[in-house]
Amino acid sequence: MQVVTTIAALRAARAAMPEPVGVVPTMGFLHEGHLALVRRARQENASVIVTIFVNPTQFGPTEDFAAYPRDLARDLALLEQVGADLVFAPEVAEIYPPGFQTYVTVEQVAQPLEGARRPGHFRGVATVVAKLFNLTQPQRAYFGQKDAQQVRVIQQMTADLNFPLEIVVCPTVREPDGLAMSSRNTYLTPEQRQAAPVLYRSLQAVEAAYRSGERDAGRLRQIALDVLAAEPLAQVEYVSVADAATLQELEQVMAPALVSMAVRIGRARLIDNILLT
Ligand code: PAJ
Repeated sequence: MQVVTTIAALRAARAAMPEPVGVVPTMGFLHEGHLALVRRARQENASVIVTIFVNPTQFGPTEDFAAYPRDLARDLALLEQVGADLVFAPEVAEIYPPGFQTYVTVEQVAQPLEGARRPGHFRGVATVVAKLFNLTQPQRAYFGQKDAQQVRVIQQMTADLNFPLEIVVCPTVREPDGLAMSSRNTYLTPEQRQAAPVLYRSLQAVEAAYRSGERDAGRLRQIALDVLAAEPLAQVEYVSVADAATLQELEQVMAPALVSMAVRIGRARLIDNILLT
């Protein structure tokens, strides 16, 4: 496994790689959710590139860029085990040199949900992912359903800007109690960690009601809100039942629909979602 930190070294290593190439963009502090993406990329490609970069442009001024957990040595050991070929782990100035001034803005699908609560977030995500696509020139790129709106934004950008690659979406990997794996779960105290599976429990309650025939989006949202309200440590930011393609809120569910939520528990802002099909 080769590790590079400069664009020049990345381009040189990429040029020598057997095709097809799969890329897995990450912000590091890797867990099983990330590793599942790398394993899938390993199965489907001759070469696998993993990028590790905590991208400052996708964090708001009051968000956790400085506090975001980092452990490059541990990440590299994990990536060696799952068989990555090349790791690109640049410094901020390599990606955003002085004078940088070009950004990618995806419009409608980036506006609701996370986009409404995190102004500029998806502009930062789309910009860095576009740069990583240009730098790594992959045939396939791997993303997690955990960040469902991010997937929609990147699919839209890839289509609109004609990136010649396939976006592969992988299922959300969960802890045994249902909590979606996230680097930010490390912010939870033991007591808060015990409360955190309430997100997935509320999504499962919505899924059960949907399976029983409930199609009223307002009632489905209320089912999730009721489960969340029973957990005193959970502060709900939003619960959404939206069209899975446009991310516009629904009144009646016509599958496929995305049920998504953001909930604060202590200093952690947790997101989770399921698809109703
Ligand atoms: P990060 O949060 O590190 O996630 C990297 C990738 O892992 C994303 O595609 C994310 O959806 C996926 N992932 C995270 N937790 C997962 C889980 N529990 N199950 C399945 N997949 C999971 O997302 C980002 O970084 C950044 O926004 C990035 C795309 C790298 C751009 O900076």
